[in-house]
Amino acid sequence: MKTISLSKFQIEKQYYHANLFEEICERLDWQDIGLNSITRSDISGVDEFHVRGAEVSNELVEEIYLKNCKVLDVGCGLGGPARMLADRFNCHVTGIDLCAEYIRTAKKLSELTGLTKSTKFIHGDALNLPFEDGSFDIVWTQHAQMNVADKTKFYSEIKRVLTDEGTIVFYDIFTRNGADIQYPVPWANNASLSFLQTISNMERLLNDLGFRKLQTSNQSDKAKQFLTGLFEKIKKNGPPKLGLNVLMGASTKEKLTNILKGLEEDKLELHSGIYRI
Ligand SMILES: C[S@@+](CC[C@H](N)C(=O)[O-])C[C@H]1O[C@@H](n2cnc3c(N)ncnc32)[C@H](O)[C@@H]1O
Repeated sequence: MKTISLSKFQIEKQYYHANLFEEICERLDWQDIGLNSITRSDISGVDEFHVRGAEVSNELVEEIYLKNCKVLDVGCGLGGPARMLADRFNCHVTGIDLCAEYIRTAKKLSELTGLTKSTKFIHGDALNLPFEDGSFDIVWTQHAQMNVADKTKFYSEIKRVLTDEGTIVFYDIFTRNGADIQYPVPWANNASLSFLQTISNMERLLNDLGFRKLQTSNQSDKAKQFLTGLFEKIKKNGPPKLGLNVLMGASTKEKLTNILKGLEEDKLELHSGIYRI
């Protein structure tokens, strides 16, 4: 049986990439993109670390009112979604993540894209959020809870930091039936780092905490299409100059193939959803 108190160190190690910001700059340079003129779209291939990247975040924002909101991104990674919310909707966005190198990179990328005033990034743990009760209108979280064993604590912390009518927006990978999947996957090199729940388990937890469902959407077919298309593109053109391959390194293909396999074998599902208190 897995230990509940999985060390934060192991999760950080899973995602750690030395000199990440410097590598991103180098790859921008290869494409003749000057650091003084970087736009969000120049880095969107690398700063949204979830299946379907910026495309799915841009779909999710169509479903909620965001203008001028205070948003917390739990497990924010390199901060791409945070910058999009700040830039497009004038939100003030705080991102928190366990991986210090991601947080350093997120801050630097916000500097490069002129979004330091409206985005803030903190190295910290989703299970112990360093914020007062009721601090945020919206909690946004994508592909982070798969590393979290204590789901009750994860969603309780989110509820605590939300205002009385706060909203959670999620986009995550779930197990369909608890069956074993093949590793590595992007969030875990082996089973000891992976804590997949079913969508119904999550819905029960949110209901128990007093959230009500506004909507959920099964994103599995779109994910399958995306991954199949990505493999075809890579076969034809080679790996992208600045894509998620920068974050996942030599095992990128194997990790993404294992997600696709899990989807095709009906072991994995992707869902997005919006719940309100
Ligand atoms: C696959 S990445 C997704 C990053 C980002 N949400 C995105 O979609 O671009 C998962 C992130 O969750 C973070 N994470 C996992 N467990 C966490 C925890 N307990 N507290 C904070 N961050 C966590 C990891 O460090 C990693 O950056």
